[in-house]
Amino acid sequence: MKNFREAYDKYRNSVNEYLLDFLPRIDEKSSSLNEAMKYSLEAGGKRLRPVLLLAACQFAGGDCKEAMPYACAIEYIHTYSLIHDDLPSMDNDDLRRGKPTNHKVFGDAIATLAGDGLLNTAFETMIKDLYLHFDDTDKMKRRINAMYTVAKHAGVKGMVAGQVSDMEAENQDSSLEMIEYIHINKTGALIVAAVRAGLYLGGADDEMMSNMTTYAEYLGLAYQIADDILDEIGNSSHLGKNTGTDKARKKITYVSKEGLEASLRKLNEYTENAVAAIEGYYDNAEFFRDLVLTLAKRKR
Ligand code: IPE
Ligand code: IPE
Ligand code: MG
Ligand code: MG
Ligand code: MG
Repeated sequence: MKNFREAYDKYRNSVNEYLLDFLPRIDEKSSSLNEAMKYSLEAGGKRLRPVLLLAACQFAGGDCKEAMPYACAIEYIHTYSLIHDDLPSMDNDDLRRGKPTNHKVFGDAIATLAGDGLLNTAFETMIKDLYLHFDDTDKMKRRINAMYTVAKHAGVKGMVAGQVSDMEAENQDSSLEMIEYIHINKTGALIVAAVRAGLYLGGADDEMMSNMTTYAEYLGLAYQIADDILDEIGNSSHLGKNTGTDKARKKITYVSKEGLEASLRKLNEYTENAVAAIEGYYDNAEFFRDLVLTLAKRKR
């Protein structure tokens, strides 16, 4: 796993290096918007989605550096989703990435607008990159596919829909099917988008696309169930966010419905399914295998 850590950190550091560079220069009259957007980006985070995008691009034979605008774009979208997720009208959280949440510092209005700003900046960043490749039809096609997959999965048939169902399921006794639907959309969708966008950019064939999509779907499910387990038994200072919040807010999660033991078993099942989806690539897919295995053992 030593190589895995090194590889992950290398991808993550490269994302951190470029993340602020793609931000547009914002008029001084709106400097609070600039500050609020940067505040949440700079607060840290695991950068899972951009790391996945870069690794998937490389896995498919592409050049990581060329995928950087898309990697940063998906982190902008993820960060916006967290800012909005924490708002008093949503999960009402006051700690994120080890710091006070965006609205605690800038107020609800600016936090909402900083989220809007990050979402638009994501598309601006990706579209700007298209201009560099106008004379190369193949590269253009790959980029449009990547952009479309991000738009689709982040939107009203993906993450946004999942967040709506998550909110509406509060205080309800939802079915396991509903919980899975929420997980697939609010969390899985962006993870699938990251992997598929990276694969498109790298020029993956249909078979790789299909196997890696299955991998990403199980990774997404595992990721949210791990998040819910950690909310129950994790350590707030390690996670950088408060724990016990799902119970307090009467969120319906796999943990609240089926208990901790069953949730840990489910996490293992999803992990095994993710690993199985990429078995045929043997050591070439080592990074992706180690990533999901590391996740299953995330620090409590
Ligand atoms: C938190 O995402 C929200 C979920 C989908 C579980 P992360 O756990 O990836 O948060 P950061 O980016 O590391 O802060
Ligand atoms: C968040 O799920 C999913 C998105 C932000 C899209 P949670 O509400 O469980 O995430 P945390 O626990 O606040 O990070
Ligand atoms: Mg939430
Ligand atoms: Mg939340
Ligand atoms: Mg959570």
